[in-house]
Order: sequence, then C-alpha cells, then structure tokens
Amino acid sequence: MIEKTVRVCVPGTSANCGPGFDTLGVACTIYNELELTLLADEHLEIAVTGEGAGNIPGDARNIVWRSIRMLLRRAHVEEQYRGACIRMKNGIPLSRGLGSSAAAIVAGLKAANLILDNRFSRRELLQMATDLEGHPDNVAPAIFGGFTISVLHEGHPECFSFLPKLPLRLVVAVPSFPLSTRAARNVLPAEVPLKDAVFNVSRAALLVAALSKGNVHFLQHAFEDALHQPYRAKLIPGMYEVFQAAKEAGALGVSMSGAGPCLIAFTLEHAEEIGDAMVQTFGRYDVEARALMLKVDDRGVRIKK
Ligand code: HSE
Repeated sequence: MIEKTVRVCVPGTSANCGPGFDTLGVACTIYNELELTLLADEHLEIAVTGEGAGNIPGDARNIVWRSIRMLLRRAHVEEQYRGACIRMKNGIPLSRGLGSSAAAIVAGLKAANLILDNRFSRRELLQMATDLEGHPDNVAPAIFGGFTISVLHEGHPECFSFLPKLPLRLVVAVPSFPLSTRAARNVLPAEVPLKDAVFNVSRAALLVAALSKGNVHFLQHAFEDALHQPYRAKLIPGMYEVFQAAKEAGALGVSMSGAGPCLIAFTLEHAEEIGDAMVQTFGRYDVEARALMLKVDDRGVRIKK
C-alpha cells in the first residue's frame, strides 16, 4: 500500500449565536491544522502543538483518531488502515466554547475522507460528526463555513449555510478558565416557560432574516436569549456586565459563545474598543481574559496546501 499524507485546516465555531440554542452556529477565522498519514500497521503516533498541547490524549482516546476510525469503519476499510501518524497544530482554545472538539472531529473525518478519495459527501460527514459530537451546531459550521442553521430529524441532521450580507466582526473574550459543555448543560432545566420559548423563536427568526438581508436595525435585539444564558450566567463571573460593556463600546449584540466561557460580541465597527472593554470588565470580576478579533470563515474545513 502506498502511504498518502493529507493536510487539512478547520475553523473554530461559535454555537447558539444568542437565541439559536443548539441550532445556530458560525464559523470563525481561527483554525486548527491536521496532517494525517494512515498506516497499515497498528501503530499510532500523535503529536500536538499549540492550544491544548499537554491536555489532549496522545493515544486511542484521541478524538481525531476516534473520528478517523469511525469513517474507516463506515467505509469498511478499518482492517486496511490500523494505525496513523497524526500531527495537530491547534489555534482554537480548548474547552472555551469555540468548538475545539467539533474542529477535531471534522478535521479527522475530512482528512480520512480525502485519503479515501472523498468516498463520503459533506452531508454524510455531517451525520458522522453529529453522531460523535451529540449535537450539530458546531460541527455544521466547521464543515460548511458561514452561519449555519441545523435541524435534527430523528437523529439525522440537515444544515443550511449562508453568509451574512454585512462585514460582521466577531470579538471573542476568552477567559483563562475552561468550562466543559457537560457542566454547562447540567445547569439547564428540562423544561422552559412558553414565554421564554417565544422570546427565542422570535429573535432567532429575526437574526437569520436580518443577517441574510444585511439589515443592521433589526440586529439590535436579535442576539438576546432566554433559554440557556440565564441559567449558565452563574458559571461565568461578570457575564452580564461584560455584555453591557461590549454594547456600550458599540457592539450590535453579545452572547455566550456556545456553552461558554467565551463571550462573543457581534459588531460592524469598534472591534478593538469592544475587546478592551470586555477584557477590562472581566478583570473587575477577577477573571483573566484575552480578546480575539475574528471574522466569519466562509469556507469551512478545507485542504491545506
Ligand atoms: N449548543 C451547545 C450548548 C453548544 O450550548 O450546549 C455546545 O458547544
């Protein structure tokens, strides 16, 4: 067998985007890179540099490797490729709400699929990635790029991806502490009041319409949420004060990024000032944070030349 090496680049993602709990997501211009060689022998070599190096398992528990194994199994070639050489260069902060696990899954699937000459479509990759991640709202933008609306029909994901008709900037305040998605989901109630569901449905619909038409006026209240942020606020000291500071500095809207602890401001201007205001306000609550200035990634996972 001739060994083939492929390289892919995958964007980080921010899920929920305010009102779109478990539904909306956006791909951001922050990336992980993966180099993969599949081996016939049962030999696994994993090297990680950058974000999370030292905290990412370098053995069979590794999520990139588990994703590769799933794709090989579904292609019925797992006996031909029993090992791999995996090199990861990570730019996406780990366990911060920027889709690092979705990026790892999508990178592994895409790279293995390339080696198999694209045996699976992007839709099939979305299904596998959702099966691994448990929800589609990070893996969908990591695969398709842009803003994505994901829907599950009896476990089968559908995804609509679009680019906002506005030069949107994404200012992300990254606290120095991690927060697991599981911990952030454990504080959510099983049921929510009808008025809160209506609050979110109306804003999620408005958000998608306003982004796709490029209507700034309607974005002013479109990033608000009543379904998950009120319950999770206790996990992120100063969250609502950081929201307020970002708005006062000129943000159109602010929300938790995924399950947090990153907070993300959506803006057309004053990105630096918004980032400074968010970091300083976090500081008042003894939370060390840094700001990332990002844009919307319009391509999703891709081959790295
Ligand atoms: N929609 C998910 C949540 C995203 O908020 O729990 C987790 O990455």
